[in-house]
Amino acid sequence: EGQVKALANAFEELRHTQAELMHSEKLATIGQLASGVAHEINNPLQVILGRTQMLSRTEKDESKMQSLRDIESHTVRIAEIVDGLLSVARKDTSGEIKEVDLNLVVARALSLLESQFSLNDIVVVKDLDSSNPCINANAGQIQQVITNLALNACQAMAGSGGTLTIRTRANQDNVEVEVIDTGPGIDEAIMDRVFEPFFTTKPEGEGTGLGLSIVLGIVQAHGGTVKVGNAAGGGACFTLYLPAASKSDQIAA
Ligand SMILES: Nc1ncnc2c1ncn2[C@@H]1O[C@H](COP(=O)(O)OP(=O)(O)OP(=O)(O)O)[C@@H](O)[C@H]1O
Ligand SMILES: [Mg+2]
Repeated sequence: EGQVKALANAFEELRHTQAELMHSEKLATIGQLASGVAHEINNPLQVILGRTQMLSRTEKDESKMQSLRDIESHTVRIAEIVDGLLSVARKDTSGEIKEVDLNLVVARALSLLESQFSLNDIVVVKDLDSSNPCINANAGQIQQVITNLALNACQAMAGSGGTLTIRTRANQDNVEVEVIDTGPGIDEAIMDRVFEPFFTTKPEGEGTGLGLSIVLGIVQAHGGTVKVGNAAGGGACFTLYLPAASKSDQIAA
């Protein structure tokens, strides 16, 4: 019986590894596509934006002016999507890696979202490890990770209000960040898919489905992992594991 169990475990592990491989291959393909196309799209976009802004300067008719504003805002939206694709593609973090205090990055990300939280009746609980957990990282990218997770939590709780808890913990090898909300949580049926590029349950025009693939790309580029699950209270819970600075130092040495 022990052998059967071991075999079952091995199978499960194999299935999991295969799923991960397929996922990273998908990301890599999208990355190649994105960097090739994004540049080509950006040039005409800038032309459209420039001409629209030029016309806006002299337009007197209010309804035509509104159309020009619509064109401008939608063009900006396209530019943002292209940008998002590029951040999924951008694997390399060289250049700006520094020792970063995770608590500071978390605080900075949250303070920029303050108005969104209060607008949606969301209370933020910060439970930050006082030993100042440090990682070797690109601070801007890690801030983006926290921002994407907090925004998702905010969107999940919008309408009903709730509590967003962010917890940092330093272990010996890893620094962990938990982002927990009190929203509806994530259906088991889609749990495997939330990190896929373009996977979204939001209405068209609201979500692109890139937020979590950007999170995964950045965390993996930093040598870390992300886990998703539902918290005891029913909301979603995302946990980041990032290599602690001292450990990565040893690897680099
Ligand atoms: N905190 C959460 N609570 C419930 N569901 C979530 C949460 N975070 C993510 N999800 C689910 O995972 C999906 C993918 O999230 P992701 O951030 O990648 O894309 P998005 O939020 O839909 O769009 P975008 O981030 O591009 O605006 C969401 O559409 C939602 O179904
Ligand atoms: Mg999102």
